[in-house]
Amino acid sequence: MTTRMSPFERREQDLDPREETTQLTEMITTAMSRRKFLSAASVMTAGAFMSGMPVSAAAGSASPSGSKLMGFEKVSVSTADTFVVPDGYQANVLIRWGDPLFADAPLFDSTGNAKAADQAQQFGDNNDGMALFPLSHERAVLAVNNEYCNNEYLFSHRGDKMTADDVKKSQAAHGISIFEVKRTSENNWETVLDSKYNRRITANTEMEMTGLAAGHPDMITAADPLGTKALGTFGNCANGVTPWGTYLTCEENFNGYFGSENDVITNKEQKRYGIRQEEAGYHWHQHDPRFDIAKNPNEANRHGWVVEIDPMDPTSTPKKRTAMGRFKHENVALIINKDGFIVAYMGDDERGEHLYRFVSKNKYIEGNDTANRKLLEEGTIYAAKFSADRNKAGGIGQWVALTHGKNGLTRENGFPNQEYINIYTRLAATQVNATTMDRPEWIAVHPKQDYAFCTLTNNKHRGIKEGQPVGGPNPRKANNYGQILRWRQVNDDHTYPTFAWDLYVVAGNPVVHKSGSYAGSSNINSDNMFNSPDGLGFDQAGRLWIQTDGAYSNKGEYAGMGNNSMFCGDPDSGEIRRFLTGPIACEITGLTFSPDYKTMFVGVQHPGDNQQPSNWPDGGSSKPRSAIMMITRTDGGIIGS
Ligand code: FEO
Ligand code: CA
Ligand code: CA
Repeated sequence: MTTRMSPFERREQDLDPREETTQLTEMITTAMSRRKFLSAASVMTAGAFMSGMPVSAAAGSASPSGSKLMGFEKVSVSTADTFVVPDGYQANVLIRWGDPLFADAPLFDSTGNAKAADQAQQFGDNNDGMALFPLSHERAVLAVNNEYCNNEYLFSHRGDKMTADDVKKSQAAHGISIFEVKRTSENNWETVLDSKYNRRITANTEMEMTGLAAGHPDMITAADPLGTKALGTFGNCANGVTPWGTYLTCEENFNGYFGSENDVITNKEQKRYGIRQEEAGYHWHQHDPRFDIAKNPNEANRHGWVVEIDPMDPTSTPKKRTAMGRFKHENVALIINKDGFIVAYMGDDERGEHLYRFVSKNKYIEGNDTANRKLLEEGTIYAAKFSADRNKAGGIGQWVALTHGKNGLTRENGFPNQEYINIYTRLAATQVNATTMDRPEWIAVHPKQDYAFCTLTNNKHRGIKEGQPVGGPNPRKANNYGQILRWRQVNDDHTYPTFAWDLYVVAGNPVVHKSGSYAGSSNINSDNMFNSPDGLGFDQAGRLWIQTDGAYSNKGEYAGMGNNSMFCGDPDSGEIRRFLTGPIACEITGLTFSPDYKTMFVGVQHPGDNQQPSNWPDGGSSKPRSAIMMITRTDGGIIGS
C-alpha cells in the first residue's frame, strides 16, 4: 500500500475554507448566468417543491419547447410490439441474441435446445451498454455487454431442469460480444463474420485481477491460490470507454449468481453485497461449485468490479480494476480532467447505495498508451455527500475520500487497510456518511466537461426504510418515477472536492397527479412523461439521450407512459422530447454512434419480459429476442439535429 499523496489530495488538505467559499460562490454565480436550472435549485423551497411547483418553473426557467438542438418530430407514446423512430428516420436490426459471431457458428435455434458450445459462438443475451471503436469510415469494432439471460427463452425447459451443459450455456449467454461491423450503405451496417476481431467473453473467460486488492486473502480461492486470476464476468450492465481505446464493462448484479444448497451463515460483508444462500434463479451453483458460497465463499469477492478490455486484441486478458472499488457498478463516465488526471464517475445501482468518483494517481500522457493503460490501476475512490435540506432541490456536495486512515476509515472502526476498503467499498461509504441515493444508474458528462448528469432511476424505499430519508437529490417518498441529477464541479475541475447540484428533471405523471411532486418537474408533460430513467449519454453536440427501464403497464401510476422509450433532452432549455419507443416489455439500454453521428446504435433488452406477449423483432409467433438497432436518417443527416 502506498502512502504517497497525489497532488489533489494535498490540495484538499491545504485548502483554505475561505478560498473554497469564494470559489463556490463564483461558480454558482457563473452557473446561474449560463444555465437556468442551477438558479432554480438555489431558490427552490420546500413549499414550492412539495406544493407541486416544479423545479425548473420555480426559477421561471426556459419554456420547454423550441429547442435549437433538436430537429426531429416527437414520437407518440406506444404500447405496440414495434420499434418506432421519428418521421424521416429508419431503424433496422443489426444483431439479435443468438446470431452467429463467427463464420462457422451455428444459426440461432429457437427451440431452446441449443448447446453451450453453440451459444459461445453467438451473440449473447440481453445486450446492454456498448461502444463502437472505429477502424475507418466503413469499418468498426463493436463491444457489447450481454448482461444476463432469460431462462424462459434460453431453455426449452424454461430453466426448471438445469443440466451441467445448461449452466455452461447460461454462462456463455453472459459477458461481452466483440465483433467487427461494416457499413454496406449509408444506412446499413452488417456483422463481419470472418473478422479477426470477433470474440466472445463469457462467465468463464480468464481475467487478471489488478490493483491493490489483487492477491488480498479475501480474493484467494482453491483454484487461484494467488488471488490474481479470476474467471469470467457477468451481470455486465453498462459501460465506459477510455481515451486510450479500451472498453470498460461494469459488473452489476453479480450477487444473484451465488447460492448454496447448504445452510450458510453469511458475514456482514456478504450481507451488504446481497450474497446469500438463495440465488436469483440461474442455478449455476448446482453444477459449478465456484458459485456455491458454502464451498467457495471468496469467489464472489472477485466480482463486482470494473473490467478493462482491449477490443482490438482478441487474445488480450481482460483486467479487473480493483482500484475503482467494488459495488454494483452501473457505468463509468470517464474523462481526462484539465490537469491530466483521469476522473471516472460511477453509480452503485441499488436502493440506498451511493455515487462514486475515482481519480487516477497518475496523469494521462498523450501518445503514451502503454503508460495510459495502467492509469486505472491506482487512484483514490470518493463517495458523494450531498446537502440534504428537505427544503431545497439543489445545493452543494462534497466528494469524501475513501482513503484508509482518513474520514474515520481506521482499524478501530473496522477498516484494517486500503485493500479492505477497495473490496468492501460500500461499507466505507457508509462509514463516511455518504448520501444514500435513489439507485444511481448511468452517468454522463457534457462534452464541454462542465456538467455531469446521473439518472436516479427510482426507489420505493425512500422515506420508508431506515437510512433513506427524503431530502437533497432524493426528494420524494416512495419514489416510483425517478429523477436526473446534475452537478457542476467548482472551477469545472473534476478532481475538486466540492460541487453544486440540482435536478435536471423530476419524472412524474402530470395526468394522474394534477399537482404535487409526483406530477414531475415543469419539463414533464402528458406527451413526454416517463418513469425510471436509466441509460444516459451525450452526443458531440450536447444532446442528452435518456433511455428508460421502467414500469410498462400503462396503468395506474404509469397510465399514459406506454412502453419503455428513449428521449432527447436539451441541457440548456430543459426540453425533453420522445425520440423512439420500444416493443412490449423491453427496456431501452445501450447507445453508441458512428464517428459521423449519422448512425445511432441503440439496444433493446428483454422484449417479452415477464411472460408478456412480444414476438419482436421477427414478428409472427417467433421468440422475442434482445437486439441492437441501427438508426439513420433518410436524408443522411446527423441523428437528433
Ligand atoms: Fe443493469 Fe442498473 O441496470
Ligand atoms: Ca441499467
Ligand atoms: Ca434499470
